[in-house]
Amino acid sequence: MNTKYPIILAITAASGVVYGVRVLEFLLKNGYKTELVISSKAYYIAKYELGLELSHCKETIHRNILNFLKLKTENLKVWLDDELWANPSSGSYRTQGMIIAPASMAVISAISHGHAENLVTRAADVCLKEKRPLTIVPRETPLNTIHLENMLKLSNLGVNVVPPVFGHYAKIKTLDDGINFVIGKILDAHKINNDLYERWHYEEEK
Ligand SMILES: Cc1cc2nc3c(=O)[nH]c(=O)nc-3n(C[C@H](O)[C@H](O)[C@H](O)COP(=O)(O)O)c2cc1C
Repeated sequence: MNTKYPIILAITAASGVVYGVRVLEFLLKNGYKTELVISSKAYYIAKYELGLELSHCKETIHRNILNFLKLKTENLKVWLDDELWANPSSGSYRTQGMIIAPASMAVISAISHGHAENLVTRAADVCLKEKRPLTIVPRETPLNTIHLENMLKLSNLGVNVVPPVFGHYAKIKTLDDGINFVIGKILDAHKINNDLYERWHYEEEK
């Protein structure tokens, strides 16, 4: 992955907004241009889970997220999900694909059925039609058959389905280690080099 074209990152209204925020932190700290699409329903969960005020104004979202991450950068562009005229809406706008973290079951259903009626689902639809990488981080448990069928359909279309589940072999001791494991796996799926978690390597017993 190069840093020339932007990556689209969407945060939808599922638990685990931290995953989207931490992917964003990695991308910005590593020089990736990022176009962030915020689901209009995510503000409540972001506030409840992280104390992060997303509001309905993108200038405020832009400022609050960078303050939250203690970052200053020109590489972040924020879009609201009703801005269907935004860059990620068009296949002619070049990107390195899209990550949706967390991805609600509602948004996964809409994408798997081609319902591209807001910017999150339209941008994902564009990635599918342009054969660009698309990674979803589904957050729900337990999963019903509808959820599983929708994800199977997307997986068959080449979408990376990366649930926020960590491997205990990675010597996870804290919640932060677990989150880093998941972020590392999301970035791996999107072929973005990272050392966020301890990778498995076999050691001979002495
Ligand atoms: C506190 C809270 C937590 C939620 N967590 C999830 C979740 O983890 N997964 C999910 O699929 N929906 C979850 N929902 C329901 C979604 O927010 C709802 O389906 C919404 O319509 C999704 O909107 P979006 O996909 O446009 O962002 C949650 C709702 C609330 C209020």
